[in-house]
Amino acid sequence: MSHRELPEDFIWGFATAAYQIEGAIHEDGRGESQWDVFCNTPGKIADKTSGVTACDSYHQYQQDIDLLKSVGAKAYRFSISWPRIIPLGGRDDPVNEAGINWYVNFVDALLAAGIEPVATLFHWDLPAELNKRYGGPLNKDEFTADFVRYAKVMFEALGSKVKHWITFNEPWCTSILGYHCGIHAPGRCSDRNWSPEGNSATEPWIVGHSLLVAHAHTVKLYREEMKPKFGGKIGITLNGDWVEPWDAKDPADVEACQRKLEFSIAWFGDPVYFGDYPASIRKQIGDRLPEFTEEESALIKGSNDFYGMNHYCANYIRHKDQEVADEDDIAGNLELLFENKAGESIGPETQSAWLRPYAIGFRKLLVWISKRYDHPTILVTENGTSLKAENDLPVDELLQDDFRAWYFQEYIGAMVDARCLDGVNVIGYLAWSLLDNFEWAEGYETRFGVTYVDYEHGQTRHPKKSAKVIGQLFTELTNK
Ligand code: NOJ
Repeated sequence: MSHRELPEDFIWGFATAAYQIEGAIHEDGRGESQWDVFCNTPGKIADKTSGVTACDSYHQYQQDIDLLKSVGAKAYRFSISWPRIIPLGGRDDPVNEAGINWYVNFVDALLAAGIEPVATLFHWDLPAELNKRYGGPLNKDEFTADFVRYAKVMFEALGSKVKHWITFNEPWCTSILGYHCGIHAPGRCSDRNWSPEGNSATEPWIVGHSLLVAHAHTVKLYREEMKPKFGGKIGITLNGDWVEPWDAKDPADVEACQRKLEFSIAWFGDPVYFGDYPASIRKQIGDRLPEFTEEESALIKGSNDFYGMNHYCANYIRHKDQEVADEDDIAGNLELLFENKAGESIGPETQSAWLRPYAIGFRKLLVWISKRYDHPTILVTENGTSLKAENDLPVDELLQDDFRAWYFQEYIGAMVDARCLDGVNVIGYLAWSLLDNFEWAEGYETRFGVTYVDYEHGQTRHPKKSAKVIGQLFTELTNK
């Protein structure tokens, strides 16, 4: 295949998540989610909002499907709300048929439109009851048993229709943002006291471990009970930014870059591909990092049919000595910067403080993952950008989102290079996001959509320029 071509069956489209778009949190027997609780906690959400209405996709899903169709999308990644399916969450709790039916109807509508569903089982909206009962993922065995039962219910309902499943979305975020920084639900800040031995947080490592074990058991179930009947593939989605050394001539900074990739990506990727955590994490975290039993290690090793990759941006990384590492330094003695030693910025500012576009980094990271895990199949499950002060623009200007269109052109181009020039086995690309939506702690002020959602007027949808640009790009790339 020559440069700048993709196969006809390349899976391209858009992604969203249940809590960020559905709304209807009190309808059809849905239970309470940990994000309902978190949003009601004063000071947690920038604009004091919640997912109570969000994009109203629970009712307006046909409009979403029409948007996908209008740009020619082949696939749509959505997530299933666990509290809609099992309102109290537990394995012995009642199942809510109305919740299941909604997703069955939704998936049927996608298939009728010729759009392939890609389903995520967990995109952060844990049933709140499970935190109260046993601390959610802080309790590995209870959490695993409950999650596997929920997964089984969904496999039985949708197994014949959905051929790409994702167990967990961004376990790094759940562990670090939810249990260390406290800026995501359930808002816990594990002991953050810094001592000469380093940061003493324990909970993020326990939570990450539980998610990995629950993932492994879910994959086992899928492979035993669903694969033989329906085919289909299952994997976990990991987030990871690219890194460049602050001072490329300083070996400590170069080494810190590798450490950063290991503390973010390989924390989860190594167990999934090799059966254990990276040595760098074991060394730094010591006995705060749980151990896999032999059975767990064997079960988790090889538990990805594809690597789900969420990727947005890049940072410069500077090594810090243990003595000056601050309490937030959970990533292994390093500092994240947007400028290198020469004062050059890694990319333009966006509305998201953490997001600086640097498309070459996408290509480099695809290659890094491909090498480390011996050429896995990669499905890009998210990539996208917010735009500085987009929310303040008049609507007609907001619809001309040239910056976002530029971002997608650059990033999709970098991915095509990685596939066609570097031989990375990337099989699909799902842009974040189909819609402006509830951006977690940032509320609605940060927009990531290729579609403008008018929250003041019935959540009406208005495609931005970037939607069309993505559609045209992939149409050209896949039409020989
Ligand atoms: C990753 C998360 O999966 C998604 O929920 C979030 O909205 C985007 N990043 C943008 O921050």
